[in-house]
Amino acid sequence: MSTATTTSLYDRLGRHEGITRITRTLIANHLANPLVNARYGASDMDKVEQRVVEFFCAGAGGPETYTGKDMLGTHKGMNINEQEFVTVVDDAMAALETHSIDPATRNEVLAILWSLKGGVVRV
Ligand code: HEM
Repeated sequence: MSTATTTSLYDRLGRHEGITRITRTLIANHLANPLVNARYGASDMDKVEQRVVEFFCAGAGGPETYTGKDMLGTHKGMNINEQEFVTVVDDAMAALETHSIDPATRNEVLAILWSLKGGVVRV
């Protein structure tokens, strides 16, 4: 029997299809969120979605290759603050809940996102 601790993160998130659904909800959450939506006003959101799916899949242990820039290269010069970072992480947690991802798996994603803070905030 497989459990949350023996199944890969990629599998628990629903592999490519599940991660694509989660990413679409995440981006919809950002665009509906007045704390961050203006940040995405000038972006090609289809491209951002594609890159975020790749990033998420590769980071969860999937076979996808991430073709975007690294976190520092992506966010450098945006002067993103701590509140915006927490907002984006909250939107991600809400997207995982929307897709019924279990709490232990949500915490695992939370820890990974938090570990990326240094390449995103005030860079
Ligand atoms: C751990 C948190 C975050 C992760 C993992 C993350 C990840 C990413 C990824 C993978 C991309 C696509 C990069 C590419 O196309 O090469 C991206 C783009 C972007 N991110 Fe983040 N991000 C995070 C936090 C934030 C925050 C807090 C903001 C500001 C509110 C932000 C604003 C943006 C914007 C505006 C773009 C689009 C840039 C463009 O148009 O090319 N991100 N992010």
